[in-house]
Amino acid sequence: MTTTTTADDVNLEEVDLLDFKWFQDGPPHALFARMREEAPIRWNRLESEGYPTDGFWSVTRHADVSAISRDTKTFSSHRAGVFLHPDLVMPLDVNRNLLLYKDPPEHTKYRKILQTAFVPNTVNKLETEIRARVTQVLDQVVEAGTCDFVKDVAIPIPLGVLAQLMGIADEDIPKLLHWTEGIEHAQMSGVPGGALDVFMEMAGFLHATIAEQVAAGNSDSLVMRMRAAEVDGQQLDDSEILVFFGLLVFAGNDTTRNTTANGLLALLQHPEQLRQLRDDPSLIPNAVEEILRYTSVVNYFVRTATCDTELNGQAIKEGDKLLIWYQSASRDDDAYEDPQRFDVTRTEHDHKAFGGGGRHFCLGAGLARLELRVIFEEVLRRFDDLQQAGPEARLESVWANSLTSLPVTFTPGPREG
Ligand code: HEM
Repeated sequence: MTTTTTADDVNLEEVDLLDFKWFQDGPPHALFARMREEAPIRWNRLESEGYPTDGFWSVTRHADVSAISRDTKTFSSHRAGVFLHPDLVMPLDVNRNLLLYKDPPEHTKYRKILQTAFVPNTVNKLETEIRARVTQVLDQVVEAGTCDFVKDVAIPIPLGVLAQLMGIADEDIPKLLHWTEGIEHAQMSGVPGGALDVFMEMAGFLHATIAEQVAAGNSDSLVMRMRAAEVDGQQLDDSEILVFFGLLVFAGNDTTRNTTANGLLALLQHPEQLRQLRDDPSLIPNAVEEILRYTSVVNYFVRTATCDTELNGQAIKEGDKLLIWYQSASRDDDAYEDPQRFDVTRTEHDHKAFGGGGRHFCLGAGLARLELRVIFEEVLRRFDDLQQAGPEARLESVWANSLTSLPVTFTPGPREG
């Protein structure tokens, strides 16, 4: 029985949303719709062992997800992290060095410096390099007329772009893939500190990469721009740059991969939308926003209340955890007309794929949008008659909306635009 058929009858009191059974066919949209309507801020008891909490508030409405994300004073990322277990992936005191885990005023300072070095370059200068990489990846598979879109396209492109950005040679990309898989595995296994070894190994490599780039002294490299960036007399040292690179490997890779793969699946499942994009490729930037909304591949992050408070009439106690479901907020009918419809011409773009807004809004959003636009432009141009050639496979994760396989067939289209 699928989750959508049980959603109407289930007793919401009994639902544990952390149980993968609700996600095995993809995010449980019918269940989320009921929660938004009947219990938008709902206590979810935790039956599973190993968490330092017996439950959490499950927050499903667009307006509440936005309100929590914007109020970093009341709802902290730093106090106990952004997952339910504070030590997930790495111990909390290590995690807290990451931008993602900081609260203002520390977060504000650190983010300003990173933004100075990171953002302008990503959006303004990278398109030619990204298109060349996408072309190179598609060249490998196009003549065969068939591929696994996840393994052959969605995985190598964001990894390659990230490596290039960080100044890592192409021959070291398999190492990056190995480390991202280790992080993903630790994330899914739930073992506290499960990725510490992987991070130590990766840190050694990143340390050497940064040292090499400093010795080379290329002022245009991200490392050198980060070293040079200064805000209010503050600069980053090399260990802070290393920590940021570690975060990029986690934050900038699987997210873009999962949006690419789920985005193509959505197009294959809506052939009339795919046709519309082929007929009018100028719609692609708009389609990217709709793909981001419709797939919202980061299902949730967590915040911890720093004081007793009230949210939309619900009393919240200091120390309570709130799990904010971006996946649900992006399909809220208070925010979008007919939100379950996939529509590449939709003009409402306040989706929550990049977070709820406010200070932690995705730092890589500009880069991700650019990558996704170029990927879909090139894939639609070069893969004619795209068809799904077998069932897609999903990662067993409640946090990531992720495909592990998507077999497709196509006929080769023109190489040059
Ligand atoms: C489609 C692809 C992407 C999605 C869906 C996505 C999603 C998100 C989300 C939901 C957050 C909010 C975290 C929070 O509120 O606690 C976030 C933050 C972040 N993202 Fe992305 N992301 C994507 C691509 C990228 C890329 C390409 C990069 C960089 C290369 C990146 C770097 C970051 C960083 C550094 C943060 C932390 C920002 C902060 O805490 O101030 N992301 N992302």
